[in-house]
Amino acid sequence: MTRHLITSAIPYINGIKHLGNLVGSQLPADLFARFQRARGKEVLFICATDEHGTPAELAAAKAGKPVAEYCADMHDIQAKIAQGFRLSFDHFGRSSSSQNHKLTQHFAGQLAKAGLIKEVSETQMYSPTDGRYLPDRYIEGTCPNCGFEDARGDQCDNCTKQLDPTDLINPRSTVSGATDLEQRETKHLYLRQSEMRDKLQTWIDSKTDWPILTTSIAKKWLNDGDGLQDRGITRDLDWGIPVKNGDADWPGMDGKVFYVWFDAPIEYIAASQEWVDAGKGDDWERWWRTDKGAQDVTYTQFMGKDNVPFHTLSFPATILGSGEPWKLVDYIKSFNYLNYDGGQFSTSRGRGVFMDQALDILPADYWRWWLLSHAPESSDAEFTWDNFQASVNKDLADVLGNFVSRITKFCRSKFGEVVPEGGTWGELETTLIADIETRIRAYETHMEAMEVRKSAAELRAIWVAGNEYLQSAAPWSTFKENPEQAAAQVRLALNLIRLYAVLSSPFIPDASDTLMAAMQCDDMEWPSDFTAALAKLPVGHSFTVPDVTFRKISDEEREGWQEKFAGTRS
Ligand code: MF3
Ligand code: ZN
Repeated sequence: MTRHLITSAIPYINGIKHLGNLVGSQLPADLFARFQRARGKEVLFICATDEHGTPAELAAAKAGKPVAEYCADMHDIQAKIAQGFRLSFDHFGRSSSSQNHKLTQHFAGQLAKAGLIKEVSETQMYSPTDGRYLPDRYIEGTCPNCGFEDARGDQCDNCTKQLDPTDLINPRSTVSGATDLEQRETKHLYLRQSEMRDKLQTWIDSKTDWPILTTSIAKKWLNDGDGLQDRGITRDLDWGIPVKNGDADWPGMDGKVFYVWFDAPIEYIAASQEWVDAGKGDDWERWWRTDKGAQDVTYTQFMGKDNVPFHTLSFPATILGSGEPWKLVDYIKSFNYLNYDGGQFSTSRGRGVFMDQALDILPADYWRWWLLSHAPESSDAEFTWDNFQASVNKDLADVLGNFVSRITKFCRSKFGEVVPEGGTWGELETTLIADIETRIRAYETHMEAMEVRKSAAELRAIWVAGNEYLQSAAPWSTFKENPEQAAAQVRLALNLIRLYAVLSSPFIPDASDTLMAAMQCDDMEWPSDFTAALAKLPVGHSFTVPDVTFRKISDEEREGWQEKFAGTRS
C-alpha cells in the first residue's frame, strides 16, 4: 500500500504568520494528511521553522535578542499556534537542528565530489554605513525583470524571479536605508545548476499531472535562458550552517555559512531524522531513501507560488546532483496568493489577520473552513470580513450546525436520547442515499487530486443534501400520523451526523470530534462501504444533544473586527 510523505513549505522564523501564509501551504497540507490518514494510509507529515538567513537575523535584531534565543522562542510560539490550528504535523522541526547541520554539510560534500560546486570570486554589495556585507534581504531595490520597486536581493516577490543583490537597480540597505553601497571581492561556493538543466527538464516534462501553476513557473525559469544560472550557496553571515565539505573544513570558507535556501529544503529530510531522534518514529530512511523502502512512498509538497522555483529547480538539483538514492518529490501542489480586504497581506507591514489574532477571536474550525473553501488555487483570492461572515453563518451554522441541532433535539423530545426503533426507509431516503453516495465518491476524487475548493464544495453539498432531506421528510409532521416512519427518518439522520463527522474531519477536526462525542461513537471508519456506514449507530444506541457546534457571526462583531484589523500591527 502506498505511504504518503507530505511536507509543507517551512515558514520563516521571523514572526507569526498571517492567514495568507497558512492557506498557502500548512493548512492544505494538513487537509491532505488528515484525509489520507482517515482513509487508513500511513502518513508522515513534516514541517519545521526556517531559521537561517537574513530574515532571522533582521527579526532578531529588531526584537533585541541574540538570534539563537530569538529562534528558539519563535519556534515555540509558532509550534503552539500550529497546534491551535490543529495542524497535525508528525514533527515540527527546526532548520537550525544539529541533524540539519550535518545533512546540509553532507549534501555539499556530495555535490563537490560530483564536480557540481565551483568556487567563485565575486563582488558582493558591502555597506560602509552598516559595516557589513548585504546579502539577500539585507538589500532591496528595483527588479530588473519586472520593475517592481521593492524587490529583495534574493528574489522578486512580484514576478518570482530569483535575483542576486548585484542585479538590483537603485539598491538600498534594509538595515539603514543607506544607498552608498560598494562592491567588494569575496569568495563563494556556487552550485552548478546549469549542468543539470537537461536532467531537470526531463524530470519536469515527465510530470504531466502537476498543476499548471507549478509547471508553468518551473518551465518559465528553466527555459528563461538564465533561469538555471549557477547559484551562490554560501553567504557572509554569522548565523547559519558553517560551510563544510562533509565533516571536513572547506579551505577559504572560514566564517561563511550556507545560503538559507540551500539548507531549508534539506530540513524536510533532517526533520524526519529529528522525528526519529525525538522517539516519535523508528525509521526515517524508509521514507527518504529509495534503496531503503521509499520506492513505495508518494511524496507531496505544498507551497505558495513564490516557493516553486526552489522546489522544482534548486532542491531537485541538490537531490539529483548528490548521486545518492534520495526520494524526489512526486507532486507539487502550489497556491496563488490570498489578499486581504483590497490589498496584500504583509508581514513586514503588519497588514491583515495573523494566526494568533485569528485564534483569539474564533476557534480554528471557522478559519479552516473559510480558508480552505476559498483557497487561492486557480487565481489569487481575497479575504473580506463580509465574505467570512456569510460563509460561516451559512455553511457552518445554517447548514451543518442546524442539521445537527434540529435532528438531535427532535429525537430527544419524541424518542429520548437513543436511536429510535421501527419503520422503513421509502423513496425519499433511497434518493438521498444515492445522491450522497455519488457525492462522497466525487469528494474522494477531489481530495485525492488535492482540489481543495472542489472538495469543500462537494462536502458542503453533502451537508446541504441532509438539510434538504430533513426539510422534505419533515419527521416532526410525519410523527403525527406515523411515528414509526418518523423513527426511521430520525435513525437515518442520526447516522448522517456520524457520517458528516467522519467526512468533515479533514476540514473541521474539532467539530468532528464534538459530533463524534455527542453521538457517543469512536468508530471513524471511512464510508467506503456506504451501506455499512449508515448502520453504525444501531437502534437503541444512545447519544447526547451537542452544544451549539457553530455560532453565527453578528453584524456588530464583523464591523468591530473589520475596524480592528484595518490598520497595521506593530
Ligand atoms: N521559508 C520559506 C517561506 O516561507 C519556505 C522555505 S521552504 C523550504 O517562503 F523548502 F525551503 F523548506
Ligand atoms: Zn520582478
